[in-house]
Amino acid sequence: MSLRQFMSLRPLTRALTAVKDGVVHGWSETARTLGLQEDLYANPLHRPLERPVTVVLIGAGHRGTIYANFAARNPTEMRVVAVADPNRHRRDRLARLHGIAPERCFDSWEQVFEGARLADAVIIATPDPLHSAPCLRALDQGYDVLLEKPIAPTEAECRAILAKAHATGRLVGVCHVLRYTPYFRELKALLDKGLIGELISMQHLEPIEHVHMSHSYVRGLWRNSANSTPIILAKSCHDTDIIRWLVGDHADNVHCFGNLKWFTDANAPEGSTERCTDGCAVEHECPYSALQIYLRDRKRLYVFDLPEDSTLWDATILQALKTTDYGRCVYRMDNDQPDHLTVNILFRNGVTAAFSMEAFVSYEGRRTRIMGSLGDVTGDMESFTLTTFKTGQRRTWRMKTDAHGGGDHPMVRDWVQAVGQQNPALLSSPIDASVESHLMAFAAERSRLQRTIEDVRL
Ligand SMILES: NC(=O)c1ccc[n+]([C@@H]2O[C@H](COP(=O)([O-])OP(=O)(O)OC[C@H]3O[C@@H](n4cnc5c(N)ncnc54)[C@H](O)[C@@H]3O)[C@@H](O)[C@H]2O)c1
Repeated sequence: MSLRQFMSLRPLTRALTAVKDGVVHGWSETARTLGLQEDLYANPLHRPLERPVTVVLIGAGHRGTIYANFAARNPTEMRVVAVADPNRHRRDRLARLHGIAPERCFDSWEQVFEGARLADAVIIATPDPLHSAPCLRALDQGYDVLLEKPIAPTEAECRAILAKAHATGRLVGVCHVLRYTPYFRELKALLDKGLIGELISMQHLEPIEHVHMSHSYVRGLWRNSANSTPIILAKSCHDTDIIRWLVGDHADNVHCFGNLKWFTDANAPEGSTERCTDGCAVEHECPYSALQIYLRDRKRLYVFDLPEDSTLWDATILQALKTTDYGRCVYRMDNDQPDHLTVNILFRNGVTAAFSMEAFVSYEGRRTRIMGSLGDVTGDMESFTLTTFKTGQRRTWRMKTDAHGGGDHPMVRDWVQAVGQQNPALLSSPIDASVESHLMAFAAERSRLQRTIEDVRL
């Protein structure tokens, strides 16, 4: 190491030796000690808007409702002025909450675009196969767009949206909410500041958690890749995106192994039945019992459109378990999504990343290990430990967020600011970078199916 290089490391070494081993602190104190920004969301380009950005919500389900809630909490920044959803219960609830007139409530996304423009922008939170068509129409009519991930189920559609965004000059933000979680923002700040020296490699784990896997990718909307998208896109485009963002360079090559090993007919226990409500002999010992998950534990109930009167819930849930996919045996579904997969990525700057997606874990929350030339970081979405090689000192800090990592509303705010000021620089998750991280996922799926090493080229 040259004297110049050594001198440039001294402030960092001094900062790190000033802290004690294993002390747990919050981010602001850590940031102060290490010379990082204390408020990760403070953006000098954000400013009060002259009027709220007006929005049409397309898809008033789970995600759409969360994004619309931003308007309820921040009425000077965003206003939902129209809604489209074929589900009357959801449409009416949304319209009631946001004071939307009946003539601005639509049965389906197509009707939104039949007349003159209704608002500044649209939020598209429909099921995966219904992203690209409304997005292309919206761009053609001059709307800015906030688009749920995945951008689209095929590479061709993703590229078409990118091309249309460029041609129309409209803004397209993609809901890669991880980029807005305190955990990943802090990680990014550490890396950008050079606190572990030069980035060499990383390992990243997405532990889906076994019941979450059964709910979404065995029984739920994403169980079959042909009707939705391959799980590497549906679930893990967040991960390819966050890995690419942290590495800060383009991916060159991708390689993937993975398969569906457990949730298959062959593993259906003796005495099990088509539905958990059919008198299944092993219902009481099965970790995937729908009666246990939904009725007794009352988990993941947002899929059932429950009435406001909670005394009616038991009967409504039981009826749903007898009639919908959520009551079916996890070993007798038409699912094809892998329940475990591993992806290796080589980036243009020589950094390598190893990513695993695992269904069979008892916990949720991404796990990260990042290796640098001067130190390493390990984290689990709730805490970090930064270790510096020279001093051997370790610094740990913790954060508390909501169940979705705390990124949803900060993401909406950045998008609203970008639309309100017509400034794409405000988007942390713009369409160009998002399409590239989707291409990494498409390449991984090709590699898994064909046992090849795939190139990634935008
Ligand atoms: N960013 C994230 O972290 C994240 C998390 C979960 C889901 N998602 C994605 O968000 C999207 C929505 O997922 P969700 O969990 O909210 O699903 P959901 O089923 O709760 O909501 C989708 C809504 O779209 C409506 N819809 C269906 N057809 C329509 C049409 N023709 N016109 C208008 N609306 C229509 C449905 O009735 C439903 O209310 C999916 O693409 C999903 O992959 C993103």
